[in-house]
Amino acid sequence: MSEGANIVIRQADGEDLTEVLEVGHKTWPVTYGPIAGDDYVAMGLAKWWTQEATIPAIRAGRVTVAEVDGRVVGMTSVGPSEGHLNLWKLYVLPDQQGTGLGGRLMRAVIDKAVEDGHDAIRLSYILGNDNAAQFYEHFGFVETERESGGSGMPDNVWMQLALPQPGEDA
Ligand SMILES: CC(C)(COP(=O)(O)OP(=O)(O)OC[C@H]1O[C@@H](n2cnc3c(N)ncnc32)[C@H](O)[C@@H]1OP(=O)(O)O)[C@@H](O)C(=O)NCCC(=O)NCCS
Repeated sequence: MSEGANIVIRQADGEDLTEVLEVGHKTWPVTYGPIAGDDYVAMGLAKWWTQEATIPAIRAGRVTVAEVDGRVVGMTSVGPSEGHLNLWKLYVLPDQQGTGLGGRLMRAVIDKAVEDGHDAIRLSYILGNDNAAQFYEHFGFVETERESGGSGMPDNVWMQLALPQPGEDA
């Protein structure tokens, strides 16, 4: 990212669809190819990174993007579930990682979850994605359980961040 770049963290709209999908399609092979294999990457892109899978989340206001100089380079998507919030996706383009954008997206998710009265944020990462694990630990997430992937799929590690409740200090 160049010095003085204009960074905006905002809710995605329909105009962002192509760039949001591009974030997934560029980030998944680099992230998961080495730890889970090409078949897993192909499965995930076909299941979770299609227009059909993404349009409803954008329409529901559940997708946030990081935009640098007018270009979407990172995204996150969430969904409510029994009082807590699930963080389903958090991806920054490989050549933009480590520049603070993932952190900004995560802080936006946490702030909104607190504002909306959720008691916790939950997420999972696939075993072997140590970079993601350390990133989440940095934000205070703790491991809660491990789930077997089954049929050659990688295992999932679930984590949780308890959120401050009304009247509590953050
Ligand atoms: C994980 C990911 C979203 C993090 O985003 P990022 O833009 O690279 O991270 P940032 O530069 O914003 O870092 C934010 C903070 O986390 C810290 N951090 C980042 N990676 C870290 C790591 N591996 N270990 C410890 N701390 C880490 C940074 O030091 C920074 O701290 P600060 O806010 O106190 O300065 C990004 O690297 C990514 O897209 N990775 C590939 C996809 C992926 O694995 N996604 C998660 C799927 S479960």
